[in-house]
Amino acid sequence: MTRGQFITFEGIDGAGKSSHIEALADWLRQRGRPVLVSREPGGTALAERLRELVLHEPMDALIEALLVFAARRDHLQRLVEPALAAGTTVLCDRFTDASFAYQGGGRGLDTAVLAQLEAWVQRGRQPDLTLWFELAPALAAQRRAAARTPDRFERQDEAFFGRVHAIYAQRCAAEPQRFARIDAAQPRDAVWAQVVAAAVAHKLGV
Ligand code: TYD
Repeated sequence: MTRGQFITFEGIDGAGKSSHIEALADWLRQRGRPVLVSREPGGTALAERLRELVLHEPMDALIEALLVFAARRDHLQRLVEPALAAGTTVLCDRFTDASFAYQGGGRGLDTAVLAQLEAWVQRGRQPDLTLWFELAPALAAQRRAAARTPDRFERQDEAFFGRVHAIYAQRCAAEPQRFARIDAAQPRDAVWAQVVAAAVAHKLGV
């Protein structure tokens, strides 16, 4: 059986990726592809409990990193790897690029620590495609202000999101074959058209 593809969605808070994940899942199902939608941190009972801690309990950057990678290990072992092995396309709202962007860029944690955790936890597993919803930090802040109660990350200032954004941009430039950059400043329909174009270019629906 052909292995399923692992697709991740990234971007700063407020970039508007979430609704497009569900839309892409429907688009793939209409084309007969089995799909699993999940998120990080989260996706399993244990990882969802760790998510609650990461989003709401005060902690330093290293603890954040240890918890998101602990959650990631459980998620990969119990959900993602078995689904990929069964030929299911996995759509995941955030993955390790977020750890480098938020814990590394935002919080200033040593990238070598993150690279070590990545090697231990992922053992080579990388997304086949990452859709990066790019939005200027100032615009994202405006969109967040209109949304619900902020968590520990959403409460950060614009300088924090500037650093997060810079790491996403760096990683996108370093791995152009893995990343598809989506201009999230455009109207919703135009953003969706870019998502479909990336899916077609990566032969997701076939
Ligand atoms: P997010 O994916 O934006 O979910 P929601 O749409 O429900 O707010 O929230 C997850 C938060 O977790 C986000 O602010 C980024 C953060 N995060 C990290 O800091 N490191 C990570 O490795 C991951 C996966 C997420």
